[in-house]
Amino acid sequence: MAADAVRLDDASLRISRLLEPEVRRDPYPFYRRLREAAPVHWDEAAAGGGGAWVLTRHADVMAMLRDPRMTATRMGPPPGEEWLPEEYRAAARQVFRAMPHQLLFQDPPDHTRLRGLVNKAFTPRLVEGMRPRIRERVHTLLDALRERERMEVIAELAYPLPAIVIAELLGVPPEDRAQFIKWSSDFGAFLDGSNLTPQEAMQALVGVADFMDYFRAIIARRQDEPRDDLLQALLAARERDDVLSEDELLANLVLLLAAGHGTTTHLIGNGLLALLRHPDQYARLVSEPGLVGTAVQELLRYDSPVQVTGRTAREALTLGETDVKAGEHVTVILGAANRDPAAFGDPDRLDLGRQENRLMSFGFGIHFCLGAPLARVEAEEVFGAVARRLPDLRLDFADGAAPDWEPSVVFRGLRELPVAWG
Ligand code: HEM
Repeated sequence: MAADAVRLDDASLRISRLLEPEVRRDPYPFYRRLREAAPVHWDEAAAGGGGAWVLTRHADVMAMLRDPRMTATRMGPPPGEEWLPEEYRAAARQVFRAMPHQLLFQDPPDHTRLRGLVNKAFTPRLVEGMRPRIRERVHTLLDALRERERMEVIAELAYPLPAIVIAELLGVPPEDRAQFIKWSSDFGAFLDGSNLTPQEAMQALVGVADFMDYFRAIIARRQDEPRDDLLQALLAARERDDVLSEDELLANLVLLLAAGHGTTTHLIGNGLLALLRHPDQYARLVSEPGLVGTAVQELLRYDSPVQVTGRTAREALTLGETDVKAGEHVTVILGAANRDPAAFGDPDRLDLGRQENRLMSFGFGIHFCLGAPLARVEAEEVFGAVARRLPDLRLDFADGAAPDWEPSVVFRGLRELPVAWG
């Protein structure tokens, strides 16, 4: 196929349509249309208006994410400060200097070095060791509802749990937790970027800068008062090998919170919504608690918290039959790959016992989600405890009300999820 033929931009296929309420409510018919009619197409408005190739087939998404000719770095100079009022510029400078050091925006060899260090500290053993505490936290949140017959899942369970877990992971003392949660909501939108107003962007910048200052102070204290947690393990790795700069460390602490909070909140919210919309599947989980492991995988596949990611071509290359020029962006729709019939039988069906597990929800290749084991443990503990304690749980939207989704192209999550029992 000639490159020009697929370059034709069709506004009805633009991924910005994910912001339209109708498409946001259920993006999967839109994805099916993209996959069938234009599996590799040029979207003039994607990637912040610079344009991008958009991929929706499972095989194409996987191939792109493992292609070493793609870079995860944000090419080009850091954003300027001119648009910022004077009082925000110092914060912005420190943030813009540090953020490119986040793993997500690094290529080998820096990515390999940093990821190796974080992996050494963020081990499966550490995560499994957190399970009893996570279970306790889930039960404490549910205990608070004992006398009640309804709750709003996002505010009362899905939002606080991962914030508490990451705060503990990073050794934030309980008295600072409220501030920590505020930072998280300040810059939760930072990774998305697509939808920030200038006011929100400034608030996010200040939040990130305050967070970095706060951790600088905590790190200084740790020299005299070492603890047994992820932060200490990272500091030990830094001292031993002398290969982790302060900017790198701080930038990746920011990333752990930014990448690990909202995503897990959305997994709990989207997952519970899917379960309650399929009462047969919820009943299955209630009667077969051992299914919780595959259930979490299936809920991640069915309605992924991260829908979209992207890379930039480092050199001219061919994707299938499409010519991509050096410097062009490629956007992959993980949520579309997860519903590709070539990878999953009867992909629109929710089946908690599904064995096919090549889901794209955590990405693929060298940037595969570092927090996947932790997110899985949190979700297993939540869905397990909810099914055991609230077997007759049901949706509780006011008459005629429908779920309200966050306006985002990258993330997919609910603003509220009212449920009732008893
Ligand atoms: C359900 C919850 C989660 C989902 C759906 C999710 C999804 C993802 C995806 C799709 C990527 C790859 C992005 C890309 O290739 O461009 C990623 C990377 C990452 N995630 Fe997660 N994530 C979740 C939870 C977490 C948690 C709990 C943490 C840590 C506390 C975390 C930390 C990270 C980090 C550090 C990376 C970057 C890894 C790298 O670049 O090497 N994530 N995540």
